[in-house]
Amino acid sequence: MNRERIGIFDSGVGGLTVVRAVNRLLPRESVIYFGDTARVPYGSKSPETVIRFALEDAEFLLEKGIKLLVVACNTASSVSLPALEDFADVPVVGVIEPGAKTASVLTANGVVGVIGTLGTIASGAYQKALKAYPGVTRVVAQPSPLLVPLVEEGWLEHRITELVLEEYTSPLVSEGIDTLVLGCTHYPLLKDTLSAVLGEGIALVDSAESTAGEVARILEREGMLSSREGGGENSFYVSDIPLKFQEIAQRFLGRAVPLVTQVEVGEQS
Ligand code: DGL
Repeated sequence: MNRERIGIFDSGVGGLTVVRAVNRLLPRESVIYFGDTARVPYGSKSPETVIRFALEDAEFLLEKGIKLLVVACNTASSVSLPALEDFADVPVVGVIEPGAKTASVLTANGVVGVIGTLGTIASGAYQKALKAYPGVTRVVAQPSPLLVPLVEEGWLEHRITELVLEEYTSPLVSEGIDTLVLGCTHYPLLKDTLSAVLGEGIALVDSAESTAGEVARILEREGMLSSREGGGENSFYVSDIPLKFQEIAQRFLGRAVPLVTQVEVGEQS
């Protein structure tokens, strides 16, 4: 069994933002990605269902052989990390803690905002992780469920997206945040529009980038960095190949997804 690869899973294609960040920071590492495109979205589902799906997704990657498991999905990270840590025999990295840590370093006034899916915000995971840092005095959280479909539609700089972002972020701005955590796989694609909407003075935390940094730290600490001479290889698995898959996936990965294999995971319900 090939235990050289980093396993990354998400509810769908959004986790490709994490693959992109890992590829950029750790070009010698090979990645095996699973996107649960048949059962996406996770953001509106109950914690029980998300935990069940996350365990099935992880099982698929563990059976393929991986040295470290990355939970790219913020919703899955927010509710299923303890269950995944119990289940997996490799280190498990979620996106919540790395994002919270970066925000705690960036904030000057201690007031941090976080946006995410309904499930992520309802879980309170970011709020708890952020408040654990003494430099964070207040967390203002805002569920932003309209953003995932807007990003998948490719409306990254559309007027409607600007309006939706204004609506979601204005309460956070009124509360005086100086740092905003992008708590969803899809939001890094909205960075430019968000910066324009928010204006100067609010730092954006891309949890995909923070997570890649955490992966690098763990691999180095554990002596598990790849010793390959050349660049790593990626392989992609999904539970469905939906309409416009390539177009949407390319937006997240930043390049075409070469070969995608469809597999069945769990009960597909
Ligand atoms: N990947 C999910 C997340 O980061 C967004 C899409 C979904 O709702 O499944 O929370």
